[in-house]
Amino acid sequence: MTRQPLSVAVVGATGVVGRTMIQVLTEREFPLRELRLLASGRSAGRTVSVDGRTLEVGEAVPEAFEGVDIALFSAGASVSEVLAPAAADRGATVIDNSSAWRMTESVPLVVSQVNPDDAEAHDGIIANPNCSTMQLVPVLMALRDTVGIERVVVDTYQSVSGTGAEAIAELEGQVRGHVTGDEAPASVYPHPIAFNAVPEIDVFLPNGYTKEEWKLVLESRKILHLPDLRISATAVRIPVFVSHSEAVHVETRRPIGPDEARDLFARVPGVIVRDDPAAHIYPLATEAAGRDEVFVGRVRRDESIDGGRGLAFWVVSDNLRKGAATNAVEIAELLIERGWVRRASTRTGAATAGVA
Ligand SMILES: NC(=O)c1ccc[n+]([C@@H]2O[C@H](COP(=O)([O-])OP(=O)(O)OC[C@H]3O[C@@H](n4cnc5c(N)ncnc54)[C@H](OP(=O)(O)O)[C@@H]3O)[C@@H](O)[C@H]2O)c1
Repeated sequence: MTRQPLSVAVVGATGVVGRTMIQVLTEREFPLRELRLLASGRSAGRTVSVDGRTLEVGEAVPEAFEGVDIALFSAGASVSEVLAPAAADRGATVIDNSSAWRMTESVPLVVSQVNPDDAEAHDGIIANPNCSTMQLVPVLMALRDTVGIERVVVDTYQSVSGTGAEAIAELEGQVRGHVTGDEAPASVYPHPIAFNAVPEIDVFLPNGYTKEEWKLVLESRKILHLPDLRISATAVRIPVFVSHSEAVHVETRRPIGPDEARDLFARVPGVIVRDDPAAHIYPLATEAAGRDEVFVGRVRRDESIDGGRGLAFWVVSDNLRKGAATNAVEIAELLIERGWVRRASTRTGAATAGVA
């Protein structure tokens, strides 16, 4: 990668994803000329320690994006709806973690190892998928490209960090309250999340699915370029702090056995197969937390499908890292590598450090 440093803004820098973004940028030695930390007016003036330096948080207003090359947004959809176009108008390329732009046709929705080429045509905004979609599509890609996919059924077991900082505090409070006998009420979720499993993530839609489930359906189709993919999901919030887990059932077009599937999955960049049930080895939320990879295991035949065309498996990944921050930074690195930092319409022939 050309290392000409860029000015990068992190919007939502005080949140769980924003803080992880700062950490990932630092770990990967992203070429930074300037790191601009932005959040709501409530946080303006707060300081954050980054790699031994103290940086002040500014308020995310349109003028804050002057001179920014890449803006990583994770401050919710309503903020992105307003500020992402404002940042793009000022010449920044936005990589947005919210749901605001994901299904807009002209906005690429990108998972770095699945559809990187889609980023080329961006017009100032690129969307990062929902965390539950993110960990699923690299594995589905391997099946799409070999035996084909007929139908997918996914049940998710999602951690509270997927909701944000308040939800982490709510689970902590309820666990503590259980021990001390001081009841901690539910406020972020409609029911207590400690010692529970809540099948309601985001709002209910008229078709009975939740919006989280429907995001997984629509986003998977867009990223995999399979607009007619038959896919259904049930999304469940569970009392885990970090990492989402998914039970996945796939009906393939042509037969495939578990051994062949394991080999296929292991060849996908960023996917690790952990599958030795006799030794109690399979992907776990606790082991995936803090890691950038997607972990797959419990690969077996789905015996309910005829002709050897059924597979069942378990997929786990850190929702804050690959599910959000890491993929956003990987997209930024991809833009630099390929000379696509600026929007397609303003790029000239030879790019310098991706800034044409
Ligand atoms: N958590 C995940 O696993 C995950 C995965 C993928 C995508 N996402 C998406 O990432 C976004 C943030 O999630 P999170 O988990 O980091 O939430 P969070 O911990 O609640 O943090 C929210 C962040 O947004 C900022 N913010 C709120 N209102 C704002 C405003 N009006 N203007 C500017 N900044 C504002 C907050 O700043 P203050 O501190 O000043 O309030 C804070 O920095 C959401 O869109 C979420 O859907 C999250």
